[in-house]
Amino acid sequence: MSMSIICSNPSPCEQRKHASSVLPFFNSILIISTGLAVLSVPISTVESTIQVWPKPRTFLWPQPQATLLSPTFTISTPNQIHIHLSSTIKRYLNLIQTEHHVPLVPPTLNFTTSTPPLQTLLVSVSDLTAPLHHNVNESYTLTIPTWGPANLTAETVWGAMRGLETFSQLVWGDPLRVAVGLYIWGAPLFAHRGVLLDTSRNYYPVEVILRTIGAISVNKMNVFHWHITDSHSFPLLVPSEPDLAAKGSYGPDMLYTPYDVNRIVQFGLEHGVGVVPEIDTPAHTGS
Ligand SMILES: *[C@@H]1O[C@H](CO)[C@@H](O)[C@H](O)[C@H]1NC(C)=O
Ligand SMILES: *[C@@H]1O[C@H](CO)[C@@H](O)[C@H](O)[C@H]1NC(C)=O
Ligand SMILES: *[C@@H]1O[C@H](CO)[C@@H](O)[C@H](O)[C@H]1NC(C)=O
Repeated sequence: MSMSIICSNPSPCEQRKHASSVLPFFNSILIISTGLAVLSVPISTVESTIQVWPKPRTFLWPQPQATLLSPTFTISTPNQIHIHLSSTIKRYLNLIQTEHHVPLVPPTLNFTTSTPPLQTLLVSVSDLTAPLHHNVNESYTLTIPTWGPANLTAETVWGAMRGLETFSQLVWGDPLRVAVGLYIWGAPLFAHRGVLLDTSRNYYPVEVILRTIGAISVNKMNVFHWHITDSHSFPLLVPSEPDLAAKGSYGPDMLYTPYDVNRIVQFGLEHGVGVVPEIDTPAHTGS
């Protein structure tokens, strides 16, 4: 298997770039926190005990607290329906309600029953039309107050998808709990964050490719570089040139039909992962 992770940072693809870029947000969270008034304990900067991956640029949780996630919890969006965002919201709602994730190291925090269960996550997107292109704005802001709805705002649906992944990582246990009193701002450090898979040297079934795209997405990467063909095998069924796959594939059960390709591309869009196909021809192959 030829598989390489293209993300030049050694571990997190998303990291603080300059401490200074964080300061304006720090100021605003202090204002928000003061506004909550009910805090009887002095605000401290306790090291967060929930690890969001990749690490958001700003993660402010001055007083680690959690509350129950309501059994009727919903994710709602005031925006008109966006086909890919809708299916992402549906997927995350189902994941949140059914996964009952148990962290390796349970968060050490004050679990409070005095704050009501979280009922709603509001998702708002400013620009519903931005395509998943190189350099698209993937930033998002997520606030989960101790009272009232959580709020996820993003410039594009792709940023909202990153924010939904972050939110899902803040819910755990049975009954479900959610971290509250926090402010997160995320934005990628690198525009192109991807995984390359070579299906010419080794054929991988469509289900394996979909699973790989799912893994790319939960790591907030945005590109699946699909090295489809080469001299080793030509698994791509091109309707106008059927001999290429008939003679070039490893076998009739090791093909990607137009239906498969469409399924992979659509699945990618629902996960905020663009598919970059690489179709190698003579001059590249075997050279
Ligand atoms: C939990 O509450 C206690 C008592 O109010 C406080 O001393 C402690 O710092 C709190 N822990 C966290 C993680 O906030
Ligand atoms: C959520 O954020 C948006 C954009 O910042 C804001 O207009 C809206 O009032 C917020 N909603 C809540 C409930 O905080
Ligand atoms: C991305 O969108 C956010 C929210 O609208 C905006 O504040 C930020 O400047 C944008 N980033 C870029 C690089 O355009």
